Amino acid sequence: MTDKLKELKQKREKILQLGGEDKVKKQHDSKKLTCRERIEYLLDPGSFNEIDMFVEHRCQEFDMKDTFVPCDGVVTGYGTINGRKVFVYAQDFTSVGGSLGEMHAKKICKVLDLALKYGCPVIGINDSGGARIQEGVDALAGYGEIFYRNTMASGVIPQIAAIMGPCAGGAVYSPAIMDFIFMVDKTSQMFVTGPQVIKAVTGEEISFEELGGAFTHSSKSGVAHFIAEDEYHLLDMIKYLLTFIPSNNMEDPPFIMSSDSEKRLVPELEGIIPSEPNKAYDVKEIIYKIVDNEEFLEVQPYFAQNAVIGFGRIGGFSVGIVANQPKVNAGVLDYDSSDKIARFVRFCDAFNIPIITFTDVPGFLPGVNQEHNGIIRHGAKVLYAYSEATVPKINVILRKAYGGAYIAMSSKHIGADFVFAWPTAEIAVMGPDGAANIIFRKEIQSAQNPEEERKRRIEEYTQKFANPYIAAARGYVDDVIEPQLTRNKVIEALKISITKREQRPPKKHGNIPL
Ligand code: HXC
Repeated sequence: MTDKLKELKQKREKILQLGGEDKVKKQHDSKKLTCRERIEYLLDPGSFNEIDMFVEHRCQEFDMKDTFVPCDGVVTGYGTINGRKVFVYAQDFTSVGGSLGEMHAKKICKVLDLALKYGCPVIGINDSGGARIQEGVDALAGYGEIFYRNTMASGVIPQIAAIMGPCAGGAVYSPAIMDFIFMVDKTSQMFVTGPQVIKAVTGEEISFEELGGAFTHSSKSGVAHFIAEDEYHLLDMIKYLLTFIPSNNMEDPPFIMSSDSEKRLVPELEGIIPSEPNKAYDVKEIIYKIVDNEEFLEVQPYFAQNAVIGFGRIGGFSVGIVANQPKVNAGVLDYDSSDKIARFVRFCDAFNIPIITFTDVPGFLPGVNQEHNGIIRHGAKVLYAYSEATVPKINVILRKAYGGAYIAMSSKHIGADFVFAWPTAEIAVMGPDGAANIIFRKEIQSAQNPEEERKRRIEEYTQKFANPYIAAARGYVDDVIEPQLTRNKVIEALKISITKREQRPPKKHGNIPL
């Protein structure tokens, strides 16, 4: 027995050395932790249970015949985060560049299968040179099997991708199918084809960082949802995100009562919206004042900033918050912000997270660029996602709610449970200027002083229509409320609607405009 135990110990020790001292040093010198250090920091101390430690590749091609790859380049297993069960895999860049071959893929698939079977979130830590070139089509098959499982698990368990190094080629599509992508500033990249290939094909010259770094994907492409300053920050953010979401689609999100009283009035809300209707303000000020303890985890904070999305708690209930941001392009809906909102609404709906919307939207953005880039199909996603969502939907109309964008932003007409309006709300087909210019064109043109007449007509339209009372008279708005009561009203609405059950007609799946 002693010999056998010695053998086991030796095997383990060899595996735990990863790709060797030099490679580990190189990893640390590049401001990166090793795969095992990452797992250790992410999970509760001592909770990690590794599986498939002894898995080995069976590639005989090129140098691989004599190459030992510890864990075949990926450490997999399960453990807990704040006491909650999770599955995890972390690619080991120090071993053959974390490249993915047949057995490496099988290990990831096993973890995905188990996570799905047991209803646990899965966290994948990516740090890899992509398909292991020596393994050829077996590596490609491995990716395919991962993508398939990511898709099967979508909407059943939360899937979180941490990009902590390169993630190149088709490898990007596993994170892309998952729910949230976290990237580390300066040390992580995602791209389908790298700078050299791009130069050869299109002649464009670009660095790795500019092409697919964390900042690019957080601000331009919208691929990444969170950007971290360093690896510890990223892992902390994952732990924080998990506090808002359930472990699977059959559970409710964690309810965490705080010291922030349900009865707290928020008189400060009455001073945020400027009296001039076209003046901007920061909707995040409103969000922070309403949520418990001013805690709000913003998702995609640098992408399509005319919309704000994120998680918070109100009266202890975990909620998804969606808001137009008047500070950026007047909070207009364009193709990027439509995508951003729609995907978030669908995540919340899949995982039983009520959606609170704060509306101040002047419409869909006009322009040839918008039309030609498909504002019709992108905008349709917002309508579709809200209509399809069966979680409690509560909307607070702060100021503008014009035209199609009024309908899209969680209106009563597409299934909102409760719509509240502040007295500053303007619910109309369009803004007073545009409306008066159209319906009073003849009167304005034929007036002795057209400018005076225009002003008068705009004022007339404003008085008549730019308010919440016509919508309230029809029951499209449930109540017009003092802003200071907003937190209260939302909590009461959450309490009554949290048991909501809504059935939809049976179907294989809908056909969301993509
Ligand atoms: C086999 C690989 C590898 C790969 C890296 N390595 N990528 N081995 N297959 N895909 C090995 C290197 O040979 C090296 O081995 C070690 O990992 C570390 O790599 P370095 O190049 O020294 O590291 P670095 O300078 O940091 O550069 C990292 C990198 C680069 C930018 C990721 O390695 C790179 O460009 N790799 C290839 C990326 C790529 O094109 N992958 C295929 C994508 S296509 P030694 O022994 O020297 O330490 C794809 C298709 C998937 O993935 C399709 C799915 C549908």
